Amino acid sequence: MPVGEPGAMPTYLLTGVAGFLGSHLAERLLAAGHRVRGVDCLRDYYSPALKRLNLEGLEGRPGFQNLELDLATAELEPLLEGCAGVFHLAAQAGVRSSWGQEFHCYTRDNVLATQRLFEACRGRRLEKVVYASSSSVYGDATTLPTSEESELRPISPYGVSKLAVEHLARVYHDSFGVPTVGLRYFTVYGPRQRPDMAFHRFLRRALQDQPIPVYGQGQQTRDFTYVEDAVEATFSAMVRGREGRVYNIGGGERTTLARTLELLEEHLGRPIRREYQETQTGDVGHTSARTTLAREDLDYAPRVGMSEGLGRMVAWFTRTWQARAEMRQG
Ligand SMILES: NC(=O)c1ccc[n+]([C@@H]2O[C@H](COP(=O)([O-])OP(=O)(O)OC[C@H]3O[C@@H](n4cnc5c(N)ncnc54)[C@H](O)[C@@H]3O)[C@@H](O)[C@H]2O)c1
Repeated sequence: MPVGEPGAMPTYLLTGVAGFLGSHLAERLLAAGHRVRGVDCLRDYYSPALKRLNLEGLEGRPGFQNLELDLATAELEPLLEGCAGVFHLAAQAGVRSSWGQEFHCYTRDNVLATQRLFEACRGRRLEKVVYASSSSVYGDATTLPTSEESELRPISPYGVSKLAVEHLARVYHDSFGVPTVGLRYFTVYGPRQRPDMAFHRFLRRALQDQPIPVYGQGQQTRDFTYVEDAVEATFSAMVRGREGRVYNIGGGERTTLARTLELLEEHLGRPIRREYQETQTGDVGHTSARTTLAREDLDYAPRVGMSEGLGRMVAWFTRTWQARAEMRQG
């Protein structure tokens, strides 16, 4: 039964359910009356306690099942039993930590885990297998806004691992008919954002009255996407996504880092100290998504602009600051 048909109660497998995007998507699916079989191994890349907090609104709700399993090692066939479709969000995220010794986490959780999941999907009747890719596959894009046909030339090992995920999706689709649909998210933000991501780090430092490192002059731009908009696109991809396709998902409002700091100051009602530093290797200068394809196929229309989205994130952050501070990494 497709997502969006009320009363049908299909079950969707959702990997990475305890993460930032996964926990929001699970709530969205349950709100639409669907069942969610969530999977996460609570990797300690950031505090598992924070991930348990992400699950708080889900545990015990009718239709929600939570399985603590590692996709890189667990037997995956049983997970798919009775599932109408798959949302695959589990991954080792993060650009900067993908250099050096930790790259094996990226091959394990992005490449190997995804290959095992696609393998388990072979020969099954599934609506779609919607998977998370990233704007990082473009690297330093030469054309802005960047369309899906642009050159894929990642400039970080993380981007390389996400491009490998896209190629796996293509070969499992072309060779075995696995109905893959990829989403290239452009920097998602909002409540529960990962603690290693920029706005989360900025807010943490601002509330501790520490300076915020600004790489370069803060003139790099990002197409930030509010989490609700990213979740709507993901939800819609199960019904409307065209098999084998990959879609850009961006917020549509390219903003400089310097401007986002001003907006954060407005919402916090206090000044933020800046500490200017060298640009980091692997960080792209600008991102901007052309979302024509997602608009046409997925009916995608981002609704939350930067100022409103940052206001909501600041409200969440200040409300939950104490509880997360007690978990040290929050
Ligand atoms: N947040 C963003 O701005 C952004 C941008 C581009 C792409 N993405 C992609 O979207 C997806 C979700 O990102 P997020 O920000 O919510 O990350 P997240 O780290 O909060 O969530 C990912 C979850 O996957 C779980 N996981 C990792 N490896 C696993 C494994 N082998 N088995 C089971 N669970 C495993 C982790 O424990 C984590 O809870 C990821 O694929 C990420 O690469 C995110």
